[in-house]
Amino acid sequence: MKKRAVLSLIAAGAMVASLAACSGGSGDSGSGEGGGAIIGVAMPTKSSERWIADGNAVKKALEDQGYKVDLQYAEDDIPTQVSQIENMITKGAEALIVASIDGTTLTNILADAKDAEIPVIAYDRLLMDTEDVDYYATFDNQLVGNQQAWSVLNGLGLTELDGTPIEGAPAGPFNIELFAGSLDDNNAFFFFNGAMEIFQPFIDNGTLVVKSGQTTIEQAATLRWDGETAQSRMEDLLTANYSDNSKVNAVLSPYDGISRGIIGALTDAGYTTGEGWPIISGQDAEIDSVKAINNGEQYATIFKDTRELAKKAAGMAIAALNGDTVETNDDSTYNNNKKDVPSYLLEPVIVVKDNIQKELIDTGYWTEKEVNG
Ligand code: BGC
Repeated sequence: MKKRAVLSLIAAGAMVASLAACSGGSGDSGSGEGGGAIIGVAMPTKSSERWIADGNAVKKALEDQGYKVDLQYAEDDIPTQVSQIENMITKGAEALIVASIDGTTLTNILADAKDAEIPVIAYDRLLMDTEDVDYYATFDNQLVGNQQAWSVLNGLGLTELDGTPIEGAPAGPFNIELFAGSLDDNNAFFFFNGAMEIFQPFIDNGTLVVKSGQTTIEQAATLRWDGETAQSRMEDLLTANYSDNSKVNAVLSPYDGISRGIIGALTDAGYTTGEGWPIISGQDAEIDSVKAINNGEQYATIFKDTRELAKKAAGMAIAALNGDTVETNDDSTYNNNKKDVPSYLLEPVIVVKDNIQKELIDTGYWTEKEVNG
């Protein structure tokens, strides 16, 4: 980055170089080091530790390149997020990195960013219904959904973690209940559809039975990914469908915070870990859920290395504001109802008890002490 910018300065000639020097070398002057230019980073909430880790990692990646960072959390309140972004624009941010609360609510403020020629990177969650988003950094969200389903099937002894059928697998039937994320988050659809495309043949042949009959994303949704909301839906599902001495054998959960709500409801209903405890999926490798995997309450989580996502998004923002080529690897999957948003997708990883050490501790994501202490 630095080298490229220096070369372009040389190519542009001494006059331009000296002008750039006089201007104090702001981010888009091509100094290659941020030179104090501000980049605004809008995050949804501190109530989930993944977003705290994301925010810190993006901030560090940008500061390492000499940028100033205006990092804001909106505590899942949409007007707060809108005014935070407004402030960033007013304060002269030269690029925006936005993880939205509700991807459809930022259209007006993003139009203001466009008018001010500020490039916008959607972070993890797609910004919907707007032309005014330039790039998208995320994980392969359909694959996340596939992996959540495979982890459940693996826990039931039906497939390997990559979905390969296990010979002599039990015939079932297994009772399963389904949870989805927040309907205002485009990712929720990718996760749920990705899981259902894997489950459907098992539902069709009777191996999996959704006893409640609640199989649509609208029925399974959890507003704002809230654990307590999930807990009370799980309580209702148990009361309405499992009061006849039948047991739920598996629960599809799209996020660790939701999994913890489900675990709470099961415990309150008298389920105990060990035999007869359901297989539960998750996402984000939050520390409490990694511990829950270790002690057998949760079967799996999907690890998305936020450090990598942060680096990618920071790199995209810097390249975009400097007019450099922004690297993408999927320009056709993520349509936001206005356009296909050029995207960079990272690879998620399934974590079960056996690979906590390799994926989470050896990579430094969590320390041994955090996991086992
Ligand atoms: C993210 C997930 C996260 C969820 C709840 C989604 O947009 O992709 O990683 O679990 O939001 O915060």
